[in-house]
Amino acid sequence: MDSRPARYAVIGNPVAHSRSPAIHAMFAQQTGQQIDYGRLLAPLDGFLAAVQTFRAEGGHGLNVTVPFKAQAFDYAQRHTPRAAVAGAVNTLVFQADEVLGDNTDGAGLVSDLQSRLGVSLHGARVLMLGAGGAARGVVQPLLEAGVGQLSIANRTPARAEVLCAEVSARIAPEQARRIAAISLAQAHGRFDLIINATAAGLSDAAPDIRPELLSHAAVALDMVYAAQPTAFMRLAHSAGCPRIEDGLGMLVGQAAESFALWRGVRPDVAPVYAALRDALAAH
Ligand code: ATR
Repeated sequence: MDSRPARYAVIGNPVAHSRSPAIHAMFAQQTGQQIDYGRLLAPLDGFLAAVQTFRAEGGHGLNVTVPFKAQAFDYAQRHTPRAAVAGAVNTLVFQADEVLGDNTDGAGLVSDLQSRLGVSLHGARVLMLGAGGAARGVVQPLLEAGVGQLSIANRTPARAEVLCAEVSARIAPEQARRIAAISLAQAHGRFDLIINATAAGLSDAAPDIRPELLSHAAVALDMVYAAQPTAFMRLAHSAGCPRIEDGLGMLVGQAAESFALWRGVRPDVAPVYAALRDALAAH
């Protein structure tokens, strides 16, 4: 039997900042699994070659991050249903005869909301800001979790409509009835949960929504994380939203889903989340 640790990595560009190696090392230690998890920086035009080399050298699987999730989708020969709906892959499993592509981002978000934050999604009214890749990856898992109404609001409304139409064509009609595309300006009323899936935070901005939306919401969650609150989190705070969260729990949650898929063992996310939060605060 081969006693060398099974090899995994996160592939992206850039990838130096990725916390995935630290997360998976903690999962491996906790579950007694022998794995070697590294970082793979692929040239922007060299995703395929980098994956093929890693696989030829005996790699068992990859996490895929920006900007390669769509290419990873094309590379996979088979997709889990949630990856097929997302049209993007963040987890590749190199099996003997084929490559399986999964997308664990949505499951990571849902488990963070339900398990760590104790948010009940069943029948919840959810507003999601953004219609890019980050938003697309989590639509179906939110619907699967029983969200009652998922309004997808985007700065460019046509993009939210395209997202809704594409996702609707791939999910059950009963689920499709629960999603709707709107503009940021059209977002009004009461939502239980508001999720920021836009890239506005990259320029330290928040999406242009009515602040009172955040006053009424029970939870506001930004999919990104940082040592300091993001612009969206600051907006939620000044609007008086009672519970404001970042995306660190989602990050750990998606990693746990990948780990479970690869190793058949489900790690405990709580101590890993706590360690990462401490490390972030120490920065
Ligand atoms: P990602 O894969 O991170 O989702 P993306 O596909 O480039 O990245 O999508 C970025 C998302 O952030 C889009 O929904 C974008 O809105 P537009 O479709 O109107 O461009 C949104 N976004 C980026 N900057 C924003 C800003 N300042 N305010 C509101 N939305 C913003």
